[in-house]
Amino acid sequence: MKKTAKKIIDFKKQGKKITALTAYDYSTAKYFDKAGVDIILIGDSLAQVALGYGSTNEVSIDEMLVFTKAVSKGTSEALVVADMPFMSYQVSIEEAIKNACKFIQNGAQAVKLEGANPYIINVIKHLTQNGIPVMGHLGFTPQYINAIGGHFVSGKDAQKTKELLKMAQELEKAGAFSVVLEMVPQESSKYISENLNIPTIGIGGGKFCDGQILVSDDILGKYDNFCPKFARQYSSLKDIIFNVARAYCNDVERGNFPSISESFTLDSKEVEKLENSTQN
Ligand code: KIV
Repeated sequence: MKKTAKKIIDFKKQGKKITALTAYDYSTAKYFDKAGVDIILIGDSLAQVALGYGSTNEVSIDEMLVFTKAVSKGTSEALVVADMPFMSYQVSIEEAIKNACKFIQNGAQAVKLEGANPYIINVIKHLTQNGIPVMGHLGFTPQYINAIGGHFVSGKDAQKTKELLKMAQELEKAGAFSVVLEMVPQESSKYISENLNIPTIGIGGGKFCDGQILVSDDILGKYDNFCPKFARQYSSLKDIIFNVARAYCNDVERGNFPSISESFTLDSKEVEKLENSTQN
């Protein structure tokens, strides 16, 4: 059965740790789903890891929608959340609703927005009141990288942690069903998680978050331009991909591929006719 935003909140009440990963294509989503991942996020991180762009701010809505559709087709149980890309919700509430609606129409069950300034809170209120579940995102918020000026840890002291909690509570009041905490000290995440009814999903947020999320290319070991401190690499898919491609090239170059069983064959009579016939 498909997991819902409400089910994700229930997991926190039950003390079940929430598992989340990003995915961008049908097959990856299918096996993450089979493995029991609770939430699959079509993260705007796909700008870098799937499209080779320099930052998440370069990806467009139309590009995100193609990946959203593919992931939703591969998912039968996980909750599918789509990241709303840079400037798809910042211009006006009307545009934010229209754009969020495109993600829902392409198979997402919820959208994720970064930040919690009064305008964003208002957008989230409008989305949730219109039946679109929203995941918030606080701490390091990559879409604001040009304003922030770098990859910095947030909530680095008691005062800043309290400010983060206040923002998270605003998100909760606006109707968000969960909040991602990116690059936040574990003690701060603990304090925030204990003072919220909705689950916190950490990425570089430490073990006290109600759930964890990582970028799939990081855990699979597929993207190596940059590997953050908080990402655990479970495989080295980049080496597997490289070795498979090399083996294939060797086989083709040496005439070892394709074999007879990998080819279609004519019946021997037809082969004879071909051999005995002259062209034209
Ligand atoms: O874009 C992304 O991948 C994210 C992370 C929270 C995983 O936003």
